[in-house]
Amino acid sequence: MPLPHIIAHESREGSLATVHRYHDGTKHHFQQFARSLGYLDWASQPSPFRGFTEAPIFPLYPTPGVADGYTPRRATFDQTCQLEVPAEPLSAAALGDMLRHALGLSAWKRFNTSRWALRVNPSSGNLHPTEAYVLCGALPGLGNQPAVYHYAADRHALEVRCVLDKGAWASAFGGRQDVLLVALTSIHWREAWKYGERAFRYCQHDLGHASAAVSIAAGLVGWRAVLLPVWSHHAIAAVTGIDRAQDFIDAEREEPGCIMAVTAGEPLHCSQEAVGQLVDDVARAHWSGRASQLSEDHVVWSFIDEVARATEDPGRSSVPATLPATDDQDARRDREIDARTLLLQRRSALGFDGRTAIDRGTFFDMLSRVLPSRRTPWISAWWDPRVHLAIFVHRVHEVPPGLYLLLRDPRVFDRLRAACRADFLWEAADDGLPLWRLAHADARALAARVSCDQDIAADGFFSLGMLADFDASLQTFGPSFYRHLFWETGMVGQMLYLEAEAAGARATGIGCFYDDPMHDVLGLRGHAFQSLYHFTVGAPVDDARLTSEPGYAWEKTER
Ligand SMILES: Cc1cc2nc3c(=O)[nH]c(=O)nc-3n(C[C@H](O)[C@H](O)[C@H](O)COP(=O)(O)O)c2cc1C
Repeated sequence: MPLPHIIAHESREGSLATVHRYHDGTKHHFQQFARSLGYLDWASQPSPFRGFTEAPIFPLYPTPGVADGYTPRRATFDQTCQLEVPAEPLSAAALGDMLRHALGLSAWKRFNTSRWALRVNPSSGNLHPTEAYVLCGALPGLGNQPAVYHYAADRHALEVRCVLDKGAWASAFGGRQDVLLVALTSIHWREAWKYGERAFRYCQHDLGHASAAVSIAAGLVGWRAVLLPVWSHHAIAAVTGIDRAQDFIDAEREEPGCIMAVTAGEPLHCSQEAVGQLVDDVARAHWSGRASQLSEDHVVWSFIDEVARATEDPGRSSVPATLPATDDQDARRDREIDARTLLLQRRSALGFDGRTAIDRGTFFDMLSRVLPSRRTPWISAWWDPRVHLAIFVHRVHEVPPGLYLLLRDPRVFDRLRAACRADFLWEAADDGLPLWRLAHADARALAARVSCDQDIAADGFFSLGMLADFDASLQTFGPSFYRHLFWETGMVGQMLYLEAEAAGARATGIGCFYDDPMHDVLGLRGHAFQSLYHFTVGAPVDDARLTSEPGYAWEKTER
């Protein structure tokens, strides 16, 4: 029967056309920004925290920590990323340790009468569209049955959404007790409230940051977190309960994102059958809680719904083999930086001093840590790197200012070179790194201009655009991979944020940039490569008017 095949093919092409239409339609141009309200309607500002009313709640810390006698094991940042920390047995306390250092609150800031929370994971506009769910078996310190929980970052607590039959977990995962799942979803409205149609992109960036934060924090307790491609959006929606209309009356709906397997032992092979079984199990289970409403008024941005449907993930049972990760980055010295401290201190710089430079070694070290390797967060992705960095170097000792390209998969060299301007130099900038000098230039004004005239892109050590291998990736993996391209940029960004802190500097993600002017800088035409995210690193200048308090009240007494 050829007909279903033709229909499937047409709908894939139709969805790819929608992706192109959405992507082009949400570009910022010099003369026109992507469509948004154009002003902030403070009356409808969404709450950054969701709760499920009437759901039983388990505080994660300090209560279970005290009950279990769990003592966090000191870990350096390098040990954490290199997966060298001995694995803790699964328990509520260790899970709390992981979540606190992945998605918890890192500080409360105050300016005059305004007070707002910051989190371990960053978010465009600090709007935090990403919600997290934990699916696990019976765990010491939590329930004695398998369950689905919502992570409430404001209270650092797990809200019980659903309790499963006793045997459900063991039968899905062949009796393995050392596995839990973390699912991430997005509330588009949180970003759309401020950014209008471009918000779908920001939700995906943020989800990429959050998944990298989970991957790294899992390493903190010796666990390994990997994205599971086999889960379709339909299945993610079912097991997290976000498809339960009756629990979301008046509440903004959540969009499925991804599921990560977190294991304390061997990596998990999650079969299609296991997914199907868990979906059946939750359908029979007892659910609790009703989602809180975040705003009373809403604006509908139907373009976002359209691209969300076009990029719905059907799940994939087989994925191509990935590029072998190099070993040499694993054998590097330990900088002896306490991982928990580093994760909690990550912040976005509000401004840079426009003077300080870093040395060549530190710069190359930072770049080497965003190359694929057997470290976190790179072990979490099931696809080869599709994102490369076009770097404006401003202030790096012994590296001439100018435009550079870091190829995170060297196999892209010929295609990218052919796609770029013909007069670029393509000089190797270093023996050990796939870093190419394209042009000598004082690129400060240009870098700020393409990043929506933001000075932070000019005043630091360097700023960059993340160039995605766009059309070829969408052809290979289908329209849903549009999301993954942004996730990968978020993962790169998360690592750069942390590497900046490790170097005594600071970074900022830049979602506001002029898309095609950045392509013009490189001479790119069409959709073969698209810049999806900008980023900047430098020596920060703090705003002394802001005061800071710890993320949770119980930390005040601990420190
Ligand atoms: C995807 C993304 C895009 C961002 N875009 C910008 C930007 O264009 N300009 C800017 O100053 N900050 C930008 N930021 C920084 C956020 O404003 C910042 O993460 C947020 O206020 C939370 O602060 P924190 O990172 O210190 O936790 C961006 C962050 C992310 C994750």
